Amino acid sequence: MPKLRTAALVAGAALLTRQALRRRVQASPLWPMPALEQPVSGRPRSRSPRLRLTSHETIADGVVRLRLEGGGLPSWEPGAHLDLVLPSGLVRQYSLCGDLEDTSSYTVAARLAEDGRGGSREVHERLTEGMELEVCGPRNRFPLVEAPSYVFVAGGIGITPILPMLRALPDGTDWRLLYGGRTRASMPFLEEVGKLAGTGAPARAESGASGRLTLVAEDEDGRPDLDALFADVPKGTAVYCCGPEGLMTAVEARLPEGATLHLERFAPRTSSDENVPFEVELRRSGRTLTVPADSTLLAAVRRELPNTAYSCEQGFCGTCQQRVLEGEVDHRDELLTDAERSGSLLICVSRAGSDRLVLDM
Ligand code: FES
Repeated sequence: MPKLRTAALVAGAALLTRQALRRRVQASPLWPMPALEQPVSGRPRSRSPRLRLTSHETIADGVVRLRLEGGGLPSWEPGAHLDLVLPSGLVRQYSLCGDLEDTSSYTVAARLAEDGRGGSREVHERLTEGMELEVCGPRNRFPLVEAPSYVFVAGGIGITPILPMLRALPDGTDWRLLYGGRTRASMPFLEEVGKLAGTGAPARAESGASGRLTLVAEDEDGRPDLDALFADVPKGTAVYCCGPEGLMTAVEARLPEGATLHLERFAPRTSSDENVPFEVELRRSGRTLTVPADSTLLAAVRRELPNTAYSCEQGFCGTCQQRVLEGEVDHRDELLTDAERSGSLLICVSRAGSDRLVLDM
């Protein structure tokens, strides 16, 4: 039984205790991740010992589950993810979805993105049991916070960070989940989700939605009814959403008053902002360059400094973070806090908000 659940039961409380939550939401990096204070060279830095891939199984249409084993792995918190360094050198982030108490293995699941950039295809087609892989993390950018009630919205593989949250919530917690997917066969963990919700079996959206669980297979049920989901949501409810951009945007737009929103993105938010060229001075290197409208700042910088660290190129891993010395930034990431944004930027997606930027590199 997870520590959180035990602690809360002993206290006779339905809600997470502050202390338990503090323990759970603290990021517990297994191997230190790149930080601004560290020199930037090569990618990615601070890798782990290698973990052995002991299981690679298909658990739903287009979804494989990976089990990576090693000795004495540090604990992780619901919402945490792992960076997998693939044999090609690509690095991809996957939410941990296995047993919180298991310190000998990590479990992640990956959906095949047919029109992706190759990472998920490599995971599906080139990884085989027995291989050893490097990982970075775990890191938690999607921690479970204390709240009087919870609404979870998962789209497809977006169920993976939410599953450990559901397992960790104490008995009696007020929560509900809307879990959607293109087809029922493409939705992993249906059986476990049904058990956690107390329905014993997956429920249909129209007919069998329990108080807690609404399953929506788009080919059978159409689009999820978010207005119904958010009806009568108590003040202070924490809403967690992970899934396709369209789903997260819809949840954002319908967020009930008094609720707090927590999003986990593994794909960049599309920007409608028009790109314009700007000048960048790399002060420590003594170089000044122009970033064209059709290039990212990262690409321009790497032409001058090829060892500049990067990974996801989509503004959610943090590897490319750099300190800003002068100039305004047009932040286009989903990762940095306001405090971090005041002095730094992610050069893979963000651009200048003025004619000129000066970076500490
Ligand atoms: Fe991942 Fe920039 S490379 S945030």
